[in-house]
Amino acid sequence: KPYLDTKIFGTQDNLYLFETIDSTHTYVSHNLSTIDHGSVLLAYSQTAGRGRRGRKWSSPIGKSLSLSIVLKEFSDQMKPTLLTQLTAAALQQALAEVGLPIAIKWPNDLLINRRKVAGVLTEAMFERQVLQAITIGIGINLNQSQSDFPTEIHPKATSLALETESPFFADKLIAQFLKLFEQFYQDYQQSLDPEPFLSICRQESAVIGEIVTVVQGDKRRDVEVLGIEATGELLVRDLSSKEKMTLISSEVSLRNP
Ligand code: ATP
Ligand code: BTN
Repeated sequence: KPYLDTKIFGTQDNLYLFETIDSTHTYVSHNLSTIDHGSVLLAYSQTAGRGRRGRKWSSPIGKSLSLSIVLKEFSDQMKPTLLTQLTAAALQQALAEVGLPIAIKWPNDLLINRRKVAGVLTEAMFERQVLQAITIGIGINLNQSQSDFPTEIHPKATSLALETESPFFADKLIAQFLKLFEQFYQDYQQSLDPEPFLSICRQESAVIGEIVTVVQGDKRRDVEVLGIEATGELLVRDLSSKEKMTLISSEVSLRNP
């Protein structure tokens, strides 16, 4: 809080702090009517953190940081998938400013040395079928050692402390991230032009130019990643059919072949 330098996000009555909570996203979904635009919920641990498609997000006490940012003022053109990429770009830049080289794995993962150090989960939240808010969640691995991660994600996950080889204090990082997020968000709200943050996602992409396996339901195919479209979709070329196609982030996961 002492470092916070934003005008909308996480200011005054809009900053919620939790030692432990089930999930900051679940809290927002249960309190939609009372949580204002611009609110930031920050938790030191979650007992039921979630990722995409109901997967678990591990967020143990004292080792991780979980945030949800609540948006109630947005236009129809600000699609969740683009907001995910806006958020990934802001976090990538904030980490670069503290000297950490982070790559963005489209659409929602931040990697360091090819391992996942943070993830973004954007959810549209409805009440009686009316859209009430878009909530952006960010989970960051701060101080886990390898044994703190669930065994099934061992080779794939890392923390900022593991990478820097010293304990990581996140106050300044979070303040800088929120400042950049606010700038990107306000610019995007005014211009409706996603290029400023999409160009960061392209430039810092972990997958453009690579061959990856696309998992879609129980289908798998190997593709070459060509780029990110202005819609936020991923442009790829199927290696067997040679055809170009675009992928929608909510429908696919990318794996190393
Ligand atoms: P991927 O499976 O490639 O990570 P994804 O982005 O499609 O991609 P998500 O559902 O968004 O997957 O993320 C949840 C996944 O992240 C979990 O299935 C688990 O493998 C992994 N995971 C869970 N907690 C952590 C953590 N703290 N750090 C890194 N990875 C985690
Ligand atoms: C991912 O699956 O890669 C993204 C994980 C994002 C998790 C964040 S932590 C804050 C918010 N609360 C949740 O339960 N999930 C999101």
